[in-house]
Formats: sequence, C-alpha cells, structure tokens
Amino acid sequence: MAREDKTETALDPVGRALPEFPVPAPLAAHGPARVIAMCNQKGGVGKTTTTINLAAALAEYGRRVLIVDFDPQGAASVGLGANPHELERTVYDLLVDKNTAVSDVIRPTEIPGLDLLPANIDLSAAEVQLVNEVARESILARVLRPVVDDYDVVLIDCQPSLGLLTVNALTAAHGVLIPLECEFFALRGVALLVETVDKVRDRLNPRLEVDGILATMYDPRTLHAREVVARVYEAFGDTLLHTVIGRTVKFPDASIAAEPITTYAPTHAGAHAYRQLARELVARGDAA
Ligand SMILES: Nc1ncnc2c1ncn2[C@@H]1O[C@H](COP(=O)(O)OP(=O)(O)OP(=O)(O)O)[C@@H](O)[C@H]1O
Ligand SMILES: [Mg+2]
Repeated sequence: MAREDKTETALDPVGRALPEFPVPAPLAAHGPARVIAMCNQKGGVGKTTTTINLAAALAEYGRRVLIVDFDPQGAASVGLGANPHELERTVYDLLVDKNTAVSDVIRPTEIPGLDLLPANIDLSAAEVQLVNEVARESILARVLRPVVDDYDVVLIDCQPSLGLLTVNALTAAHGVLIPLECEFFALRGVALLVETVDKVRDRLNPRLEVDGILATMYDPRTLHAREVVARVYEAFGDTLLHTVIGRTVKFPDASIAAEPITTYAPTHAGAHAYRQLARELVARGDAA
C-alpha cells in the first residue's frame, strides 16, 4: 500500500522533477551549426569524454556533428581512432597558415554523421606563435567559418587552461558547456571560468552564453557526490543540467577502444546518460 502513495515522477540528483526529454525530430536540412565549447580549466573533469560521447549521441539522432580537437594532448582525436603521429595536417596548420583549407583537414570518423578536426602536440606551439597576430582571439572562428553551415553542432574540446587557445574557442562559440567532476574542489575555479566567459562576451563575442554545467563522475552511493551537486545547484540554479553522468570504468574502457560509449557499450547506463544529455540540450534549444 505504501507503493500506491508514491508518485511516479522521476527526480534528478538535486530533487527537481526530471522531464522526459523527447527524441529529437529528424532534421530536414542541416546547418548552420551551433558551436559549443567544452570548457573547464581544471584537468580531468570529463571534457573530452563529454565531447566524444555527446557528439556521438547527437549523431545517432541524425545530427551532423563536427568535433574540433583543440587540446595539444589530442585526446579527442585518439579517442576517435586517429593516430596522432600519422596526421599530416591538423587544426594547428589552419591556425598558422591561411592557405590550408579546413575542409582538407576535417576527416570522417567511424560514426556516421560525426567528423573530426584533429589535433596533436603541434598545437602546443600555436599559443606562442599567435601572440603577435592581428585579432589573435578570433582565428579559430575564422578557420571554422567555411564549414559551420555544413553541420548542426560543432563541439570544441578545450585544453585545461584559460589561455589564448581557450579564448579562441570561446570567441568561436555560441555556448559553453562546463563539465564538473563531482569532487570537493570542483567549484573552485568555476567562478574564474565564468568571469572569463563574461570578459569574452563583453569584448569579443556578444552572443556567448553558458549553456549548462554538467555534473560528471557522479556516484549516487556517496553522500559527498550528492553534496557537491547540491552546492552546484545552490550556486548556479538551473544552469546545472538535469542530466548527470555517473562514474563508471566503461568510459576509460571505451577510450582505450577508441570508440564512444554509445557504440562500445550501447545499452550501458553511461551511453543512456549521454543520449539523455543530447536530448536535454536539444530540448533547451542549445543544440539543433
Ligand atoms: N563518468 C566517468 N566515469 C569514470 N571515468 C571517467 C568519466 N568521465 C571521464 N572519465 C575518465 O577520466 C579521465 C579524464 O576524463 P577526460 O579526459 O574526459 O577529462 P578532460 O577534462 O578532457 O581532461 P583534460 O583536462 O586532461 O583534457 C579519463 O581517463 C576518462 O576516461
Ligand atoms: Mg581533455
């Protein structure tokens, strides 16, 4: 009888009613893309994992998606099966050489609808090389301009820093997605990140908005993780997305296999979580 008293409404980890995010309607035509920067200067919070798996989930829903690997570590490129040493041209060449065409550097991935603009360690030289360029903050925006109409979503995987490369990503973007590891010090640095976003909006890119904060590596069994998301909600309200990504070894496993979790373990909770994230962003109007 106690069962009958319970409501069937699902709740998210901070106790908000969890909407049923509908499967996005197929698109009749593609582009122009909404550009989203995956950004957090803290390392290892799930930026690359979210870039790859959100992109793959959006591609499953029929979206045309481009991942821009914008980290000299090249983790997104490796995670999608590119061999960093065999890449003839990367995003670095586009930044420093106006005569390289972006369409010649973009490559398809194993996932239908998902393309990659790869990076490798060469990109680490860009920050220094670009310092004296005119409009050095808008070089990535210029590089992407010829292809934004071909995609529905462009996801830029940023490096863990707030340097010139990240400012370029923010200048090229419409929205910022902030992955946040459910750890005690997670909130440290978010204020600085939001400040940087505000500065870029004021000075370089008036359309820029924070799309959402995504709690990652969430373990519902620990009080600690629940406290962290509660504090994020307290501080940022509904900027905290309903979707949270659970902590599971399937993510490192999938990256070793150089696959998104959506194909590596399609029925795993981690795959479902990134599909839900894709549906939530579409429902919020943050993705096509
Ligand atoms: N939800 C998760 N559960 C368990 N492990 C995860 C999860 N998300 C990511 N990881 C693992 O944590 C590590 C860091 O993740 P990831 O590379 O996505 O973070 P990052 O923010 O891109 O890091 P960096 O700042 O170095 O670029 C990786 O080994 C990844 O496989
Ligand atoms: Mg990364």
